[in-house]
Amino acid sequence: MTSSLPRIIQGGMGVGVSSTTLANTVSKSGQLGVVSGTALAITFARRLMQKGNEIYEEAMKHFPFKKTIERIQARFHPKEAHEPFRMVEMPSIHPSEDLNELIVVANFVEVHLAKKGHKGVVGINFLEKIQFPTLASIYGAILAGVDYILMGAGIPHRMPEIIRKLTKHEDVMLPIKIAQETEHTIEMSSFSPLSFSKGESLPELKRPQFLAIVGSHTLATYLTKSEFGSPDGFVVELPIAGGHNAPPRGKYPLTETGEPIYGERDLVDFEALRALNLPFWLAGGFGDHTGLKKALELGAVGIQVGTAFAFSNESGFEPELKKQVLEQVLNGKVRVKTDIKASPTGFPFKVAEIEGTLSDETTYQARKRICDLGYLREAYRKENGSIGYRCPSEPVEDYVRKGGKVEDTVGRKCLCNGLVAGIGLGQIRKDGSTEKHLVTSGDYLNGLKPLIDPKTYSYSATQVLHYLLNS
Ligand SMILES: Cc1cc2nc3c(=O)[nH]c(=O)nc-3n(C[C@H](O)[C@H](O)[C@H](O)COP(=O)(O)O)c2cc1C
Repeated sequence: MTSSLPRIIQGGMGVGVSSTTLANTVSKSGQLGVVSGTALAITFARRLMQKGNEIYEEAMKHFPFKKTIERIQARFHPKEAHEPFRMVEMPSIHPSEDLNELIVVANFVEVHLAKKGHKGVVGINFLEKIQFPTLASIYGAILAGVDYILMGAGIPHRMPEIIRKLTKHEDVMLPIKIAQETEHTIEMSSFSPLSFSKGESLPELKRPQFLAIVGSHTLATYLTKSEFGSPDGFVVELPIAGGHNAPPRGKYPLTETGEPIYGERDLVDFEALRALNLPFWLAGGFGDHTGLKKALELGAVGIQVGTAFAFSNESGFEPELKKQVLEQVLNGKVRVKTDIKASPTGFPFKVAEIEGTLSDETTYQARKRICDLGYLREAYRKENGSIGYRCPSEPVEDYVRKGGKVEDTVGRKCLCNGLVAGIGLGQIRKDGSTEKHLVTSGDYLNGLKPLIDPKTYSYSATQVLHYLLNS
């Protein structure tokens, strides 16, 4: 069975870094191209608000429920380049019908575009921590025939059942974490394909494979025993990978620059992993010509690579930003900091120190705090028992008024706006400025030198695949 599995997974990189073009290129070449499912409702809505994005309009024609598309088309129209993007409802436990439609269609379109024109396999990546849009997102991806669903940044033990049910158009529910509550009235998010389709006929769907992204063999073992079913395989991500990282286990020491130190307890036990008898891929620092060989020797079926693809021509990062990063890599060194404060999720988050981006203290301090995308907001219970939403990166006084601790706001960055800006969809503010970029990358960034053309400061995703496979 493992012979039919891809050797290379091009990692799902949010927001929009794993673009449809990147995933399409990788899948076409016989490996697993993955699009990012993070914040797709916002990026899709903004693309519909830009001129020249007809491919999205075309992709929508393939969506099975025609009335849904008519409603979306009536709501979004191209704006002038200097105008700000219209606000889109922020995700919450009980989204409006409009938002649910946008989420489902956005995920459908992303997978559809990645699958277009070839017979290869395509995956979509979600973060477990971002719970509110999860059910509608998964349904949209399955409607487009996604082959793999990958989920990390949390404990996705309910996903096998949810995926199975959505494939059969059955109703699903997901308990939502409420800040500081362990046992209280559980808040449920729910999704019903039948009421979503509003009587239009339901297509037959194929169940995608589910790969859980884990940082340890312990979590992998736990997931195989879940009462909701086992994942079909794992991506085992080591802490030098880009994006969010699993924190070290227990209380952990920090380096002089405040970065987490991983110890013995964080080492992966490959024997325990192999004993699970499920396929696994290794991620984090395997993105060079020796990575695949090393992973195969450890019993993996292949590798998941992020950083090397993130800065390729086909990725979603703005071309000028990629060029700036690669020029900096080739002409020196870029520091990648494992920032334990930056992400509102509280997970360590890798930030590449690139001039003029939010890694710059002055640029960060100059940004007026605002929370208007809301993907990393947490639900909390108000004194009257109802649910409210807050994010440690929002204006400090708002967060504190909502019961948050002032110390939790220190050093927090607005990942939503910063990451969306990185793919050229940054909001234009009242003073005419545009949201600044935030660049995440794996520690491996400086290892990209052999791939970079010194004249153009660029390389292609196909070059990356050759580099990885010809070891
Ligand atoms: C720019 C960037 C963004 C990423 N975003 C995500 C993400 O949203 N979700 C996720 O599960 N992994 C994310 N990752 C991790 C990758 O999917 C992949 O596992 C990792 O990059 C592999 O390690 P490498 O960077 O050393 O190749 C991201 C990585 C990068 C470089």
